[in-house]
Amino acid sequence: MPNLDARVTAQGLGHWFVHDHWLFRDFSFDLVPQHVYAVTGPSGSGKSTLLSIIAGWLGPSEGTVTRHADTIRWVFQNPHGVPRRTALDHVALAYIGQGFKRKDADLAAMDMLTRFHLEGIADSPFAALSGGEAQRLMLARGLATSPDVFLIDEPTAQLDRTTADEVNAVMSSLAGQGIVVIATHDPHTRAMCSDVIDLAGEVAHSDSSEPASNVLGIGAESEGVSHPAVPSGPDTSSVFAEQST
Ligand SMILES: Nc1ncnc2c1ncn2[C@@H]1O[C@H](COP(=O)(O)OP(=O)(O)OP(=O)(O)O)[C@@H](O)[C@H]1O
Ligand SMILES: [Mg+2]
Repeated sequence: MPNLDARVTAQGLGHWFVHDHWLFRDFSFDLVPQHVYAVTGPSGSGKSTLLSIIAGWLGPSEGTVTRHADTIRWVFQNPHGVPRRTALDHVALAYIGQGFKRKDADLAAMDMLTRFHLEGIADSPFAALSGGEAQRLMLARGLATSPDVFLIDEPTAQLDRTTADEVNAVMSSLAGQGIVVIATHDPHTRAMCSDVIDLAGEVAHSDSSEPASNVLGIGAESEGVSHPAVPSGPDTSSVFAEQST
């Protein structure tokens, strides 16, 4: 189970790569478990950058991020797997890494594959999977590790509409877990998220003295998206990337 006390708090967050060309600025939020946050905005608006800052891979140019989370996991937009290893193995290894015996890991992995409608290709090697199957496998493998913070960068960006919809159809499996943050252009992916962090507003440029409230918005698309106070857990963040093993 993910730590339901996990929390990521950003205060006064701002970032630029080119001096004073702010991607976003004066941005504060609390990310809490059992919410699925969409990070939206046009290409270049800073979605991946914000994920990196949330993960702690990148320090913001200004502001602070406090993480109370033991495990942070990424899924990148291009699925990475071991070509000859089976789909089942990819997920079972996540359970073995948590101390499961092989047989129990296989059973748990099969359950997880079923949640993502992948039971039919459990014994297929990764190299034989379609793009949509491979991306769903990455999500299943990530979820199998029960991360406190699950960061997913453009899960449907490389997929055609039909295949993207196969992936979107299983996204609801991510709800009710730890903190899930999905960078996406895809309105279908956004629609399954409980909250939206929208970078699509005006991008502040060169040392704007305007208030930053128009730069970024964090909004809610459904009921129950207020950000409940969650007690803090240990601040011992570690980061695992969903790369090939
Ligand atoms: N390490 C870096 N050094 C300099 N500029 C960078 C760096 N990383 C990103 N950028 C620039 O910052 C801006 C935001 O990049 P980012 O990748 O966060 O955008 P994005 O919203 O994820 O875009 P996309 O939808 O295309 O993935 C872009 O203009 C990008 O070129
Ligand atoms: Mg990106």
